[in-house]
Amino acid sequence: MKQKLNILFAASEVAGFAKTGGLADVAAALPKALKKLGHEIKVVMPRYYKIDKEKLTKLQEPLGVSMGNLGELWAAVYTTKLPKSDVDIYFIDHEGFFGRGGLYEDDSGAYSDNDIRFIFFSKATLQLCKLLHFTPDIIHANDWHTAALPLLQKTRFVHDFANAASVLTIHNLQHQGNFEKHIVDAMEVGWEHFNSYELESYHRVNLLKGGIAHADAVTTVSKKYAQEIQTHEFGFGLERHIQAHEERVYGILNGVDYYEWSPSIDDYIAQKYSSKNMDGKQVCKRDIQKYFGLQERDDVAVIGFVGRFAEQKGIELIAGSLHGILDMDVQVVMLGTGEKWAEEYFSKVSYQRPNFALHVGYSDELAHKIEAGSDLFLMPSLFEPCGLNQIYSLAYGTLPIVRATGGLDDTIINFDEHHHEGNGFKFFEASQEALYHTVVWAVRTFYENSEAFKQMQQRAMNSHFGWDDAAKEYIDIYQYILEKKHS
Ligand code: ADP
Ligand code: GLC
Repeated sequence: MKQKLNILFAASEVAGFAKTGGLADVAAALPKALKKLGHEIKVVMPRYYKIDKEKLTKLQEPLGVSMGNLGELWAAVYTTKLPKSDVDIYFIDHEGFFGRGGLYEDDSGAYSDNDIRFIFFSKATLQLCKLLHFTPDIIHANDWHTAALPLLQKTRFVHDFANAASVLTIHNLQHQGNFEKHIVDAMEVGWEHFNSYELESYHRVNLLKGGIAHADAVTTVSKKYAQEIQTHEFGFGLERHIQAHEERVYGILNGVDYYEWSPSIDDYIAQKYSSKNMDGKQVCKRDIQKYFGLQERDDVAVIGFVGRFAEQKGIELIAGSLHGILDMDVQVVMLGTGEKWAEEYFSKVSYQRPNFALHVGYSDELAHKIEAGSDLFLMPSLFEPCGLNQIYSLAYGTLPIVRATGGLDDTIINFDEHHHEGNGFKFFEASQEALYHTVVWAVRTFYENSEAFKQMQQRAMNSHFGWDDAAKEYIDIYQYILEKKHS
């Protein structure tokens, strides 16, 4: 068994540089945890327009990437360290592909060349390893953007990385990288792989499907999601394909980067606090009430939401039950951006109801403030591969109200008054009524059973979802697939 592994970790977003969701948090935290275990790891991501080149170091040599019928395209490479760490991160800089405002889309929708952009990026990551004379033992891809890597390794780059094993982590099966089939030419993997067991789905290319077929291990970001994606309800059409590779599918729950998400050291929040002294939490509550122009009251139950306004997050359930919730003595604050109907609907409600406030947009600072200043956190997702906000909420003593799916089900234990158990409130059916009744239950507990509520906050804050254990599980899988490959 090799003690020190060389790991290539490719992701389309990394927190601290560019982020639209939890993938970025994982791509920043997991590599640090792997490095701490003594392994060598290089993270690679695109150099989007908003990542300031001035703060990075440019590699002298440019990177030539062969793109089949498109010829050879060139990129510059920049590098720095992941924040607060010794982990190298590299940025693939191609003005035409990544010099844009958005990561994947702009106001008129997804970029029409996302296929070429991310095939280019995937190939560039392997080419970069060659340039750096870095021979990975493990090639770790994440989601559809880099899902071409396992097949690229076995075909186009087979002579360079024959000894490596590959891992594909599925953070979200809904997005599969479905494109016109002609990109097979740019991939240069050979048309023989365009068949219904590998890349092909309904005469188009499905990058995630190809990744699942070729990765030595496929991981999901919670154990429950590893099971769910093999069902019709959560499989987004790939359930049978995943079932066929079931023996290579593993679930590893994401962790939390507690250097970023701890109320005792959080510089974004109005006053730091801990489970031993919660006084600061009231100050944080006042702070968001002030920020959102809500009545400043200590005694009111504040319910927070932070997340993408996407169907996945159960925003229709929230929209449908919001007025009923607001009829109670509560304040609801939401931070998010995404589907236009939701932005408009919630904006309208914010003018109608004095106890509801909304910030449409993306703000790390406000996300932290809401986690700290709320009593309850709303996360009624229709599906949730892992979900990080509910785990962050636990750390801030903000009790999650969740639907029992994926990582939400794995991390939240339902309140059980009689056995003094639980760290949140859970419902099962994806309906407005179920959400509404669970919010009523949570709010009642806040007002009428404050002792139990406080005990739950303590349990929540004292629970631990660190990356160290998760990183060890990844290493076990890395070692296992390497041994299998070389046996
Ligand atoms: P997903 O990856 O599906 O969006 P997660 O719960 O795993 O869901 O992670 C979401 C991450 O993105 C969290 O770190 C959350 O705080 C952050 N986030 C989502 N929307 C916003 C927003 N509008 N402003 C700031 N942070 C946000
Ligand atoms: C995805 C999922 C989310 C998960 C995150 C990080 O975006 O939607 O549930 O927590 O990836 O793995």
